[in-house]
Amino acid sequence: MRIAVIGGTGMLGAPVTAALRDRGHEVRVLTRHSEHPVDLTTGEGLEDALDGCDAVVEAANTRSPKLAEEVMVGGTRRILAAEQRVGVPHHLAISIVGQEAVPFGYYRAKVEQERLVVDGPVGWTLVRATQFHPFVADLLASAARLGVVPAPRFLTQPVDAGEVGAVFADAVEEGPEGRTITVAGPEARPLRAFVDEWRDGTGSHALRIPLRVPGGLGRALRDGGLVTDSPDVRGRITFRQWLAAQHSDEPVATRP
Ligand SMILES: NC(=O)c1ccc[n+]([C@@H]2O[C@H](COP(=O)([O-])OP(=O)(O)OC[C@H]3O[C@@H](n4cnc5c(N)ncnc54)[C@H](OP(=O)(O)O)[C@@H]3O)[C@@H](O)[C@H]2O)c1
Repeated sequence: MRIAVIGGTGMLGAPVTAALRDRGHEVRVLTRHSEHPVDLTTGEGLEDALDGCDAVVEAANTRSPKLAEEVMVGGTRRILAAEQRVGVPHHLAISIVGQEAVPFGYYRAKVEQERLVVDGPVGWTLVRATQFHPFVADLLASAARLGVVPAPRFLTQPVDAGEVGAVFADAVEEGPEGRTITVAGPEARPLRAFVDEWRDGTGSHALRIPLRVPGGLGRALRDGGLVTDSPDVRGRITFRQWLAAQHSDEPVATRP
């Protein structure tokens, strides 16, 4: 099959691309800076890049809160319209476990993005995942550059992005069944437990400071808004194993 992976160089897009290529599929990587340049904020390049594709995986993202709406909601609208024009039969998108329960602008954009896909004109599959291991590690590393790491109590359940990539590759091969697949990491624990593992694993001496997230956002997070004990697919690679693999040439050894 020929598949376009939008955001194919990102934390999720790169392992999706690798999983599809490993299975012998032809992958077009679409980003603002790839061989097939597209810009989701304008739609530029989309129609040409999607023409002739059997499926499109939408895995773009923005770190800018101001652009979240434009890249994810506007971007999804533009992608779906281009897919409809050139006849792509299957759109696959990524959402976040619990996003509708957490009052935060980024998650509101994700909820709207998901709605567009489900109500849209193209056959679809949604994958809802928990936070990726490198996302948690990057967050802590950014804070540690200022000498501190926040250690809140709220539950998080990081998952290996490669395992999520494999779920996408399966879903591409299964075709547009209009279903939502949830994928979560092996352990739901307070973020502060992962902070301790991260400090051990990286040797960071950044000061660990307790943090209480205020308001409705804090309440939703403390109530386990971003975790699930009944995912369709439970990842096997723990945060500790993933961290260890970052400093080793050995593949990640999973628990039995
Ligand atoms: N990170 C997590 O823990 C997590 C967990 C669950 C779900 N998700 C979801 O997974 C998706 C991907 O997140 P990620 O963390 O993997 O992203 P990421 O690592 O930040 O990568 C973003 C990708 O999007 C591309 N991109 C950014 N702006 C673009 C634009 N205007 N037009 C076209 N391409 C653009 C980037 O390439 P260029 O910069 O070259 O354009 C890059 O390939 C998001 O929908 C996110 O909500 C993330």
